[in-house]
Amino acid sequence: MDALDSRQKFSPTQDWDVTEQFLQASDPRHLEKKPGQRRRLWVGLGLLFTAAALTLLTGLLVWHFHLRSDVRVNRIYIGSMGISNKPFVAEYEDPSSSLFRSLADLVNKQLKLIYSENSVLARYVKGSTVQAFSEGDVDPDSVVAYYESEFELPAHQEASLNEAIQSLEPPAGSLQVQRGRLMLNPTNALTVRSVSSGERNSIEVHVRKSGRIDSPGFPDTSYPPSMSQKWRLRADRGHRIRLDFHTLILEDDCQNDFIKIYDSLAPIEPQLLTEQCGYPHGSLSFVSSGNVMLVMLVTNKEKNFPGFRAFYSQIPADDGECGGKLIEERGTFSSPLFPANYPPKSFCTWDIQVPKERFVKVLFKKFAVGKDTPGCLDDYVEINNQKLCGSELKTTMFTSQSNKMTIQFKSDPSHVSQGFTAEYEAFIPTNPCPGKFRCSNNMCINTTQHCDGFNDCGDNSDEFSCKCEAMQMECKNGLCKTKFWRCDGIDDCGDNSDEEGCVKCTDGEFSCRNGRCISKKLLCNNKDDCGDGSDESRCEKSLWLQCSDFTFRCRSGRCISKLNPECDGELDCEDGSDEADCQCGIPPFRSSRIIGGQVSREGEWPWQVSLHITGKGHTCGASVLNNRWLLTAAHCFPDEFAQASQWEAFLGLHVQGQTNEWTVTRKLKQVIVHEKFDHISFDNDIALIELDSNLILNQYIWPICLPSPTYDFPAGQEAWITGWGATVEGGASVKILQKAQVRIINSTVCKDLLENWVNDRMLCAGILTGGVDACQGDSGGPLAVTNPRGRIFVAGVVSWGEGCALRDKPGVYTRITEFRSWIKEHTGV
Ligand code: ARG
Repeated sequence: MDALDSRQKFSPTQDWDVTEQFLQASDPRHLEKKPGQRRRLWVGLGLLFTAAALTLLTGLLVWHFHLRSDVRVNRIYIGSMGISNKPFVAEYEDPSSSLFRSLADLVNKQLKLIYSENSVLARYVKGSTVQAFSEGDVDPDSVVAYYESEFELPAHQEASLNEAIQSLEPPAGSLQVQRGRLMLNPTNALTVRSVSSGERNSIEVHVRKSGRIDSPGFPDTSYPPSMSQKWRLRADRGHRIRLDFHTLILEDDCQNDFIKIYDSLAPIEPQLLTEQCGYPHGSLSFVSSGNVMLVMLVTNKEKNFPGFRAFYSQIPADDGECGGKLIEERGTFSSPLFPANYPPKSFCTWDIQVPKERFVKVLFKKFAVGKDTPGCLDDYVEINNQKLCGSELKTTMFTSQSNKMTIQFKSDPSHVSQGFTAEYEAFIPTNPCPGKFRCSNNMCINTTQHCDGFNDCGDNSDEFSCKCEAMQMECKNGLCKTKFWRCDGIDDCGDNSDEEGCVKCTDGEFSCRNGRCISKKLLCNNKDDCGDGSDESRCEKSLWLQCSDFTFRCRSGRCISKLNPECDGELDCEDGSDEADCQCGIPPFRSSRIIGGQVSREGEWPWQVSLHITGKGHTCGASVLNNRWLLTAAHCFPDEFAQASQWEAFLGLHVQGQTNEWTVTRKLKQVIVHEKFDHISFDNDIALIELDSNLILNQYIWPICLPSPTYDFPAGQEAWITGWGATVEGGASVKILQKAQVRIINSTVCKDLLENWVNDRMLCAGILTGGVDACQGDSGGPLAVTNPRGRIFVAGVVSWGEGCALRDKPGVYTRITEFRSWIKEHTGV
């Protein structure tokens, strides 16, 4: 006989009803009365409220005792049940087959039997439906049944139902748990008002042939409101499902819209692999542990976003296997399927064995494993008897005390992350860094990097106890740093001593932007004590001031003291002009998150344009200013390519050569090169492009904001550069749009570093340690700065540099604030 075991998993379905909202009083000023009338009014109001409260209380009591006991609610629980000694057959995938129905009957009978043994469940159960079967993941001769059970009960009995459901869970540590099956607790059970039949809105997909799933309406329209859509994915036996998101843009708040992916065919929470909303960053490739996966998209009434597109495929189950023996002197290893998220329920052991008399050292290059909990309760890496988890890179070097080392990795049944990559190497314990400098964390670096002013070890140990050279200054903590970094607004020493005593102002004084010193007591006192308004520029209230280089000019011609007031979400000018023209810098479906890493995501930089010379391919970058005009660099148009007809603009492009439904190409109507562009000094390296026909702006093609002439981009501020330019000096352009984060560099410092080739119409940005910069092919693209409201402004246009990404050689950009009126004059923007 087929044995149904009672290994059940319960998970209540949820109620996605939107909660009610309280509206604000329409106009609070209407409630104001003259003082004489006030007392009478208050007495009257008081009486009225008392009466109303009494009526309400009586009503509630009557309702509670007489009516509420009649209020009945429906509850749906989702569960799964293992059926042993039952080989899986293809018909079980088809709910209309007779085999499906007969096994479903059997499950139903078993459920009835289980419920009949509990008085609460027996009394309130309305019925159960089996929704799907899949192959058992532990025992190959078993089937897993997924079902929903509905209960109808008086509202006040909810607690006893929950208790009864919980009593069905087999005790922890029972046989089933040991076999790798987790029992579920019905947490957060919510009332389900309309009975949702999982069948109606579930799409069945077999992933044997690769394909894709799109959210409804994608990519032409946003997804519909108030919906719940499921995709049940199945692979062949002995395979896993791999799901790679190409686009995923939902509302930012997961309370409203979300997508959930389960390692199961039913939404059983302890098998939830991930929940996503907004514009997520990080790896968006997910792999199942077995041959099933469920994708669920739930949306609420308001604000609908583009949705998602995901590609599915099946991969052999072994592809997710990991661990093994490593016997080379050096090598790498990583979590299963890296850089995709690792599958749940993985367990790997790496045994490293290097030649005798050597020890092993391991360094992590990337690390994101589970949540950072004390004791690493969910997923972890174990090395030297120490469990590691969380998403902070473990920069220490782990070393063995023999020629062997064992590293383990474990993922639990839910919530996956990207995982890790690590490098290992054998070393001679008596001489761990032959010919190299040994850091305190046991890393080895080239001796030339010792005492060079840069933290090459990661723990600064290569920079302590050094004798500072002529071009260096000595920090209070003993580090030596290049003199250029003094007073650049960045704490390079680590103890801020390179930033101390930079302005002539004393401790109790504020240093104005125009260089004057005033007492800090005068800050925000509604008086322009600096004379340039900078003591009043970061206050709650803005002042009307005489216009200067440091004030924002409203359209009315009057000037305000507030720093960078444009598009900051607050009305500062009486004519509203600081908040006009703000349809820029945040794509229409916004995401406020900042994204790390190198390769950008599709739609992340919707103003980025690729300019092609017809027949030669990508040559320069540009930015969208509105539906007709682009901003770029003048040096992109040397005499031989000065004709607009030689060029084509690609908008909404992510990967060169891969145009898709949201890529647009345009011919150029005209190129306006700045009349004073100097091709030797690169002074005035700016140009405007008019397209031959207007663009339709959308999520993938959207303008960047132009700063007003007095917008302040202070030294030290972080900025993003983007482009398809070379990733190594002298290299070719790359296919996927790249991004990198740099910092704005103080002009005086920059002029020193680049030997006075830099003038005030230029702006420097980079990372002085080298390694991050724009390069050939990035020219014309934006240097983008985010304001406190998440809106992105173009601070510069990629112009020139000495080599690419060299130490102490920042990139140079055309300073857009200097050309604001020139842009306005030619484009009207
Ligand atoms: N002039 C280069 C181009 O045509 C851009 C150089 C930027 N270089 C730098 N190191 N930031 O693409």
